[in-house]
Amino acid sequence: MLRPFIFVRLEKNLAMESLEDLRSRVLASIAAAETLAVLDQARVAALGRKGDITERLKTLGQLDPDARRTAGAAINSVRDEIQAALEAASLHLANAELDRRLAEERIDVTLPVAWPAAGRIHPISQTVDEIVAIFGTLGFRVAEGPHIEDDFHNFTALNIPPDHPARQEHDTFYLPDDAEGVRKVLRTHTSPVQIRTMINEKPPIRIICPGRTFRFDSDATHSPMFHQVEGLVIDRGVNMGHLKGCLVEFFRAFFDVDDLPVRFRPSYFPFTEPSAEVDIGCARVNGELKIGNYGSWLEILGCGMVHPKVLANCGLDPAEYQGFAFGMGIERIAMLKYGIPDLRTMYESDVRWLEHYGFAALDRPNLVTGLTGGAV
Ligand code: PHE
Repeated sequence: MLRPFIFVRLEKNLAMESLEDLRSRVLASIAAAETLAVLDQARVAALGRKGDITERLKTLGQLDPDARRTAGAAINSVRDEIQAALEAASLHLANAELDRRLAEERIDVTLPVAWPAAGRIHPISQTVDEIVAIFGTLGFRVAEGPHIEDDFHNFTALNIPPDHPARQEHDTFYLPDDAEGVRKVLRTHTSPVQIRTMINEKPPIRIICPGRTFRFDSDATHSPMFHQVEGLVIDRGVNMGHLKGCLVEFFRAFFDVDDLPVRFRPSYFPFTEPSAEVDIGCARVNGELKIGNYGSWLEILGCGMVHPKVLANCGLDPAEYQGFAFGMGIERIAMLKYGIPDLRTMYESDVRWLEHYGFAALDRPNLVTGLTGGAV
């Protein structure tokens, strides 16, 4: 047989509970509290605005003075005892909490350090930095110019007039005519920077101009955007011996081969006279290209004495000033030095490629530490 539910209303009858029972009940609730939050509930239930002790103190007003004094003293002593118990329990729980966190959050200092993920330096940036460092020690500074050039700086001033066949060889990207009807180009080489520098500065000039260049060409060894570094020296009495000495020094430092053979072959550029192409020693061993004194040659750079017409186009008197200039592809020498087989991978932004071929900021080779010296 189902018994009906009986709802019992549990109501604390303060008048019924003796002070001693109240005391034991509250102290028990304090002793039972396992967290600071539960302990606080016990505190509020006893000493809060509507707490048992507080309520009990309110009843004192109904008593006559003698009874009030004894009852008051008794309640206050229980209250003091509860307060002391609360403080002791609170300290105990806080310590236990600290012990627990110390155990749980302990750091094992013997574990290997987890280095924060760091980016890698692209071989192109690395190579530019090396070139700048080497020419820096030879007294050169870096000059830069715009990627969008006009016909004068990219061609005409360099002794490449409008009908010159060299213009066809440059596979130029032309921009639409601008507001004044002028057709600009994406610079096809870094040589316009030497024009801008000669026009704006007085000799002596010793600059290198690393930067982006653009030609309408794309295959395993050509990219429509690539990098060149141009060099220019203008002063009185500059001759081809200076040019040769400077480039031999550079290539031996760059490839870190002290006896690297460097050969100058007569060539032609509209903006230099005489002109030369430079080869360095190499060998192909089992399909791998090695740079050094091995008997074979690899073409690597174009150079020459600045053409008198170019000097005159920039307002310099060729009777007073002479100079030399050179230009080379940065990708090409980066690929040779670091064994990168395909030019196009340089621009694919594949982080795995960069992990492999890139450089860490702190172990970048430089002239002081050498190729491996700066590693941490
Ligand atoms: N500007 C030439 C090129 O892009 C390279 C060069 C620079 C040759 C300076 C000689 C002197 O092919």
